[in-house]
Amino acid sequence: MTDFHPRVFSGVQPTGNLHLGNYLGAIKNFVALQDSHDCIYCVVDLHAITVWQDPQELKQNIYEVTAAFLAAGVDATKHVVFNQSRVSAHAELGWILNCVSRIGWLNRMTQFKEKAGKNRENASVGLYVYPNLMAADILAYRATHVPVGDDQKQHLELARDIAQKFNHDYLGENAPPFFPLPEPVITGAATRVMSLRDGSRKMSKSEPSEMSRITLTDDADEIAKKIKKAKTDPDPLPGDKEGLQGRPEASNLVGIFAALSDRDVDAVLTEYGGKQFSEFKPALADLAVEVLAPIGAEMSRLLDAPEHLEAFLADGAARADAIASPVLSKVKEMVGFST
Ligand code: TYM
Repeated sequence: MTDFHPRVFSGVQPTGNLHLGNYLGAIKNFVALQDSHDCIYCVVDLHAITVWQDPQELKQNIYEVTAAFLAAGVDATKHVVFNQSRVSAHAELGWILNCVSRIGWLNRMTQFKEKAGKNRENASVGLYVYPNLMAADILAYRATHVPVGDDQKQHLELARDIAQKFNHDYLGENAPPFFPLPEPVITGAATRVMSLRDGSRKMSKSEPSEMSRITLTDDADEIAKKIKKAKTDPDPLPGDKEGLQGRPEASNLVGIFAALSDRDVDAVLTEYGGKQFSEFKPALADLAVEVLAPIGAEMSRLLDAPEHLEAFLADGAARADAIASPVLSKVKEMVGFST
């Protein structure tokens, strides 16, 4: 296989209510990767409008995700932070990949089925082809690594299938590939953070109950209150990971503790095994406040000066475009367009 320049790409939708799952599953890993890789982090506004967004709120939410990236520690001067709609390569390559991807592949996407729900006929066409645009996001930069939460795994497998089919259809079996097959980076102790009210459901932006999630803009009191009220079972914490089997709420809270403190689950259980939730929850609340409150405070400071965020986004978009444009030109040539 050809050696590709190692490059990280990931995206977060500006759909409001950024939460602990987005942080632990994705944004925290964005920060960790920036010492070793060239990174591109994108506010995926084209993806957001696959479900109708209020235009005023969308704009504010674009700033909010940008502020979250910066507040969490992404260095937007060394790396690239921008919003997707500013770089036309995403939509253009997205179209070309719509013609590479297969209906049968999209029909297997569980996230579409969940989001479209019962009223599938009324879902936007954009929601259906959403994973093709996601493949275009990654492949426009020939990115090799994609840090995401566990729920994006299937979309990344599709991106790999699309990359492989494009390589095959336009270059044949034996030529060196044009697109790399992007690797998912799904790491940490909280790759799938669950709702605080129901350990069988994912923590999500769209869940009506605010008590189900900790958001990045919650203050210390709200964070502590939500953890105190989080659903648990009556038993004390077990001494090892096996003891968490069949205990989804306990497992979720221990995973959150481990991820927030950069420890593994066993290390947390060595300390808290045998203890009651009445002791564990206050420790978790303190830890969550210690990690999240400074991020929330920095976000609100950044959001007070949107003109600075605008400047970061404009600069990031110019640098993103400089990487994606030559890739898109080559793709157009390979496809046979007169350019
Ligand atoms: P989005 O905006 O839904 O979520 C952003 C990131 O947060 C992760 N995540 C979670 N991780 C752990 N536990 C949870 N409960 C949880 N909820 C969300 C997601 O896995 C994601 O990493 N399709 C993507 C956005 C996207 C993208 C891309 C990602 C568009 N193009 C290209 C990577 C590469 C999405 O909807 O993420």
